Amino acid sequence: MPAIRKAVFPVAGLGTRFLPATKAMPKELLPIIDKPIIQYAVEEAIDAGIETLIFVTGRNKRAIEDHFDANLELEWALLEKGKQEARDMIRNIVPSRVECLFVRQPEQLGLGHAVLCARRAVGDEPFAVLLADDLMHQDSGTPTGDLIEAYSRTGKSALCVAEVAASEVNKYGIVSPRSALSDNTWDVAGLVEKPTQEAAPSQLASFGRYVFAPEVFDILEKTQPGAGNEIQLADAIDVLAARGDVVANRLKGIRYDCGDKLGYVKAVVHAALRSDPIGSELDMFLREFGYQRSEAA
Ligand code: UTP
Repeated sequence: MPAIRKAVFPVAGLGTRFLPATKAMPKELLPIIDKPIIQYAVEEAIDAGIETLIFVTGRNKRAIEDHFDANLELEWALLEKGKQEARDMIRNIVPSRVECLFVRQPEQLGLGHAVLCARRAVGDEPFAVLLADDLMHQDSGTPTGDLIEAYSRTGKSALCVAEVAASEVNKYGIVSPRSALSDNTWDVAGLVEKPTQEAAPSQLASFGRYVFAPEVFDILEKTQPGAGNEIQLADAIDVLAARGDVVANRLKGIRYDCGDKLGYVKAVVHAALRSDPIGSELDMFLREFGYQRSEAA
């Protein structure tokens, strides 16, 4: 089985739900306290053994390139101020053995089209896709590492899934499982985008981590615009699944939808509560705040 060495990060979306913050700034650089959302996904990919990061960018995304590039002026300025630790931190965001490539999506034709734009950079090998909006936290390993493992075990493209409430199925791509391979892995028959509660084949929602065999590119080439007149990645996954070439792997941790305001705020609070030294004071603040709110009600 070929090793998975490349990861694609589609970051060409407009981020309309975060306007005006995203008028001039990419939403992927919105911080979770002091680290941009995209850096979490990049760190996850590197932890999973990825060696080439391929960013599919669009307008207003130059700052993402700058974030992952060296900034020698800033490094010098930090050294002069005696801030060695901060210098090392910004210098080592991406280790030197990891390469960053930037590919442009000329028009926002959909997530499937964004992945297709990475075809030449990926070549004829399996690869991972990470949507930075889906911020994942798990205590051991990474969602991408788990999908790479599922791909190596089965030889099939792999999706990251988790159960959602029946009332929420209309917000996600929902997996139609063909059979359970274990408690946490399913063979997938299809993927239904945002079904009604009645039409949903399960409550297993697909989140923003994938490992694909390179065949997905041939399917994407032929995929016609679907929902929202966009070339949908979900439609290509559905075709792969109908051929019996997709498995789903249950997410072991928590996922926050940082493309949505509430999900983003939850991710910030979660990270803040876990970080030193602000976590314990924030905990006290939230308890106090909760108490006052219920008093006032
Ligand atoms: P979203 O559906 O969240 O769209 O894209 P968006 O434009 O980023 O955000 P809103 O809805 O306007 O607020 C899901 C993922 O697909 C990427 C986005 O960057 C995001 O990672 N994407 C989407 C592209 O790279 N290109 C596209 O044409 C569409």
